[in-house]
Amino acid sequence: MMILLKKSLFNEPASSTGFRLNPYSCDDYGGPVVPRYTTRRDLPGRDNRPWGARHTSSKRTDRRRKVVGIDRDEEALDICKQNLKTSSSFLSLHHNSYANLDNILAAEGLSAVHGILLDLGLSSLQLGSKNRGFSYRSEGPLDMRFDQSNGSNAKKLIDQADRESLVQIFKEYGEERLASRIAKSIKEMTAMNTIADLREAIRRCTPPNHRDRTFARIFQALRIAVNGELDILQQFLAKFIDFLRPGGRIVIISYHSLEDRLVKHSFKELASGGTLDILTKRPITATEKERKNNRRAGSAKLRAAVKVA
Ligand SMILES: C[S@@+](CC[C@H](N)C(=O)[O-])C[C@H]1O[C@@H](n2cnc3c(N)ncnc32)[C@H](O)[C@@H]1O
Repeated sequence: MMILLKKSLFNEPASSTGFRLNPYSCDDYGGPVVPRYTTRRDLPGRDNRPWGARHTSSKRTDRRRKVVGIDRDEEALDICKQNLKTSSSFLSLHHNSYANLDNILAAEGLSAVHGILLDLGLSSLQLGSKNRGFSYRSEGPLDMRFDQSNGSNAKKLIDQADRESLVQIFKEYGEERLASRIAKSIKEMTAMNTIADLREAIRRCTPPNHRDRTFARIFQALRIAVNGELDILQQFLAKFIDFLRPGGRIVIISYHSLEDRLVKHSFKELASGGTLDILTKRPITATEKERKNNRRAGSAKLRAAVKVA
């Protein structure tokens, strides 16, 4: 979900990074991973909204403000709508990719915005969903698409990729040492339709110690490949600056070192060109408490910058 803010919600610097501390009680799914830094004091709210747009709040709906939310997952948008129950003039949701930022803003009649928040990766609800195929702990088909109305799923990707391509995906997106062995085992399976089939292929060729971590790395790698996550992030990074107003802020939370590297380099390049001031010399990571409340917070890195006025 990306949130674009027409009226600045990022304008109350209170710390060296320019972001106000906002600890709050996490909900059943853990809450946003680094809630302290995302928005001003009253955002996100302290209610128990379970999922979707937890970086925003339905409480402030004045007319000077507009939030544009974008997600490739229709289910995420539905839940967001239910949770925010707010006027359509305040919130506008788009079933789309943030790579299409330019077209989405054009459709909204906006040429630039005061703030952009990009929360990458997948949500805890997607991860916990039984029929989406994101988690090695669940059962069901090998899907892994954020947008289930479009594109090839994980089964199709595995069927169509040769062994070398799978090795490449597991090494690059999963940093998996046993990539070659696992790709071979996958290709030797007679059927590869379900999460259980994929687990079985991995089980056959890996030692039992820390196998859960191997499962997690392979599932992450396939998800990144299925959704073209890094290409899409690059497309976004190449254009977002044109749609940020002078003085406007960009905040990106990533969960993978490859994503974080792309964000870091893009910010550095724009800073050396004089168009961006970096607010986070080093990425902000979750506190011990946030990690306790949300296991996934451990890998989160937040970088922020402001467009030079
Ligand atoms: C970490 S979750 C966001 C959680 C949300 N901030 C919340 O508080 O519940 C990341 C979301 O990004 C969505 N997503 C992934 N790739 C996307 C893309 N290219 N464009 C738009 N949304 C995307 C996923 O479907 C997922 O819902």
